[in-house]
Amino acid sequence: MNYSDIHIAIARWYAQNGRHNLPWRRTRDPYRIYVSEMMLQQTQVKTVLERFYFPFLERFPTLQSVADATLEEVLHAWQGLGYYRRARYIHETARIAASNLPTDPDELVKLPGIGKSTAHAIAAFSTHAPVPILDANVRRILHRFFARKKATEKELWRLAEELLDRENPYDYNQAMMDLGATVCLPKAPRCDACPLCPKCRGKEAPLLYPEKRGKKARPVRRTRYLLLEKGSKILMRKRISGMLGGLWELPTVENIPEDGEKLFEIVHDYSHFRRVAEVWRYEGCEEIKGEWVDADTLHEVPVSSLERKIFARLFEE
Ligand code: ADE
Repeated sequence: MNYSDIHIAIARWYAQNGRHNLPWRRTRDPYRIYVSEMMLQQTQVKTVLERFYFPFLERFPTLQSVADATLEEVLHAWQGLGYYRRARYIHETARIAASNLPTDPDELVKLPGIGKSTAHAIAAFSTHAPVPILDANVRRILHRFFARKKATEKELWRLAEELLDRENPYDYNQAMMDLGATVCLPKAPRCDACPLCPKCRGKEAPLLYPEKRGKKARPVRRTRYLLLEKGSKILMRKRISGMLGGLWELPTVENIPEDGEKLFEIVHDYSHFRRVAEVWRYEGCEEIKGEWVDADTLHEVPVSSLERKIFARLFEE
């Protein structure tokens, strides 16, 4: 199939409606584009733009500056953004490729935390390489455009390659993201405003594509945190590994000591489970290991959003 008419329509749509002012679209610096793509993997444009992109780049203006920093410093700049594995990947990538972040997708995918779609995004946006992006929005557009209920990964990449505008891959890829965010919406697609409409095979019944997955209920994990105080200090521990590795938290215990006092519970949702955090005050601290951190300097250690919710409750009361 020839899509040149669709490519022209997409380019025109992008010129008129694209989000051209997004800062990562006003640079060709692969590092800045890389940081934006890592942040945008799991976080909305608005949040990245308003709270994280500029402060991170101010603190770490180059990949070399990330390589020169400790993991803790990088985590600190990532604090609140969640999915901290991304910050660890950036630190690892910096240590591997500090002086020269590659822009060839085949080289990029070898770096930790850079999947095929992110590699293609960095390549397409920094060097205008003719490679397609396949993020969640583009997946939805392709399912609808080709009227596929449930395409495999391999098929989606094939369709993404088929539809790609190889002459204008930069605008095409950015346009696909904007179309996914503003036109080909999950629940209320605006087909009348869509440049792909003339050749879209799913336009008569867009909500059929892709087929809805039944939502699984999130499993609940209950965690017991201890608040141990000595004067103005609080006992904290650094997590060594796992999902939030490198971040600090209150000590956790399997079993609450007998004379603990329950203060409150906080519910915090992650992508794949719900954490119910019980916070207990406890006086006998000899047997619990950790480091005493002054409450006034708590903001200097990197903590997760859950910990910040806990501190907000503790210090407002
Ligand atoms: N999500 C991932 N990459 C993006 C980009 N370049 N612009 C807008 N949203 C995005």
